[in-house]
Amino acid sequence: MRVVFLGAPGVGKGTQADRIAAKCLVAKISTGDLLREAVRDQTTLGLEAKRYMDQGSLVPDAVVIGLVREKLADPSCAKGFVLDGFPRTIPQAEALGTVLTSKGIALDRIVNFQVSREDIVRRLSGRRSCPKCQATFHVDFAPPKVDGICDRCGEPLIQRSDDRRDAIEMRLKVYDEQTAPLVRYYQERGLLLQLDGSGSVDVVFQHLSQELAPHQVT
Ligand code: AP5
Repeated sequence: MRVVFLGAPGVGKGTQADRIAAKCLVAKISTGDLLREAVRDQTTLGLEAKRYMDQGSLVPDAVVIGLVREKLADPSCAKGFVLDGFPRTIPQAEALGTVLTSKGIALDRIVNFQVSREDIVRRLSGRRSCPKCQATFHVDFAPPKVDGICDRCGEPLIQRSDDRRDAIEMRLKVYDEQTAPLVRYYQERGLLLQLDGSGSVDVVFQHLSQELAPHQVT
């Protein structure tokens, strides 16, 4: 199974990518997670990426394309992958196509999650994230078992610096201008699946699993 999860910030791509990757035993590649790891480790790439991420802009294409190319070469991707948050621009989509063609493989589906702007803002402003293992929670919709503590690794949870109101607005604007054109790009290639992401996490997961069932190898 080789799929891309597309959609505005906060539609639930990361939450569903974790679940699908665990269920289907495929790799999850999240460019957001990879970039946050680089920021946390204070690598040169991380220090460059941080200034874009904090203000809600996109990190330059060449940087993220390089990260994904490296990840796709990893043996953990041999059985398939879920790409979460990549591609996000037409040049990124074209670069992905070139990399996959050179490996003799192709994407099965692009899932476009659709959620209202009102719900997106509620989801992002209530999100709490683990800085260590990148698990995500929500103060109302997916609270951790112990308030403020990661269920998975016990680390104190934080609010992402780009989940502030001004950065959220910027991310939504960037999405409309640079990422939304990918919907048409993949529609024209017959790969797009529109998915209503407005239900509960379990309901969305059930629909997603049904839609992706033909592409599962396990
Ligand atoms: P990234 O981390 O990819 O952020 P994003 O795309 O803005 O997506 P989010 O992580 O905010 O949302 P999500 O859709 O994954 O939702 P989630 O499942 O967490 O990127 C961050 C930054 O990195 C970018 O702004 C950019 O600077 C840079 N970057 C990353 N990729 C790049 C690229 N390809 N090119 C250039 N730059 C790049 O859910 C959100 C919340 O809602 C959570 O609290 C969750 O618990 C809750 N929730 C989830 N599902 C439901 C549900 N069904 N019902 C109720 N609550 C729910």
